Amino acid sequence: MLKTVSSIGVPVEKRIIVALDFSLAKVALNLIDSLDPKLCRLKVGKELYTACGPQLLRQIQDRGFEVFLDLKFHDIPNTVAKAVNVAGNMGVWMLNVHASGGRAMMEAAREALLEFGSQRPKLIAVTVLTSLAQIDLKQVGIDCSPEKQVSKLAFLTRDAGLDGVVCSAAETHLLRAQLPEEFCLVTPGIRRASDAIGDQKRVVGPAEAIRSGSNYLVVGRPITEADSPLDALLEFNSVLASVS
Ligand code: C5P
Repeated sequence: MLKTVSSIGVPVEKRIIVALDFSLAKVALNLIDSLDPKLCRLKVGKELYTACGPQLLRQIQDRGFEVFLDLKFHDIPNTVAKAVNVAGNMGVWMLNVHASGGRAMMEAAREALLEFGSQRPKLIAVTVLTSLAQIDLKQVGIDCSPEKQVSKLAFLTRDAGLDGVVCSAAETHLLRAQLPEEFCLVTPGIRRASDAIGDQKRVVGPAEAIRSGSNYLVVGRPITEADSPLDALLEFNSVLASVS
C-alpha cells in the first residue's frame, strides 16, 4: 500500500520531479495532461522556458502542478535577486542559482524571496555541474577534486541560508552525512534497472537514491518517453513508498 508521508515529512507521491525537456508547448502539455499533480511535481528548464516562457508556466500551474524552475541563475547579486523575485511572483515551488555565484549572490537571492513569507519558493543551488571533471575545473582555475568542490559549495549554500542543493547520485551519500536532514538534496540521473541510461554517465535507482539521502528525484526520459508516463510515474512512486 502507498504510504502518503515519508519519514522526513515529504509526501511520497510528490518526491518525483518530472523533467519537461521539450521545446514545444503542445508536447509538454500533452505529456502533463497524462500525469496527475497529486503524484509529482514538474521541472521547467532553460529549453522549455526559453521557447515558451511565463505563459506556459501559467498553463502548467493552472493544471494544478507545482513547478521547479530550473534556470540556474548566475549573475551579480542585484540581477539575480530581481530575477528570483520575479520567479517568486510567478508562484514557482522551487528555483535555483549557481552556488559558484558566491555567498553575496545567494544571500541576495534568499532575501529577494522573504516577502513571500511561508509561501516562498524553495531556493536551492547547483554546486558543480556533473558534466565537469577535474580537468575542466582546473581549466577554470579550480585546483581541487570535483568532490571537494561540491562539498565546499554545499556548505557555502547552507551558510547563505538556502534550502538545499542539486547533487548527483554519487554525491548524495557524502553530503547527507555532513548536512542536516532539512537541507534538501535534489538528485537527477535516476534510472530503474529496466531503463535506458541515455547520455547519463552515472545513474542510480530510485530506492538507492532515497536510501542515500535524496529528498527529491528529478526523472526525465524514464517517464516522459514511457509508453504510459502515468504508469511509469506510479511505478517510481511505489518504489519510493517501499523505501520511505
Ligand atoms: O531524462 P533524464 O532523466 O536524464 O533527465 C534528467 C534531468 O535532470 C534533465 O532535465 C537534466 O538536464 C537534469 N540534470 C541532470 N544532471 C545534472 C543536473 C540536471 O541530468 N547534474
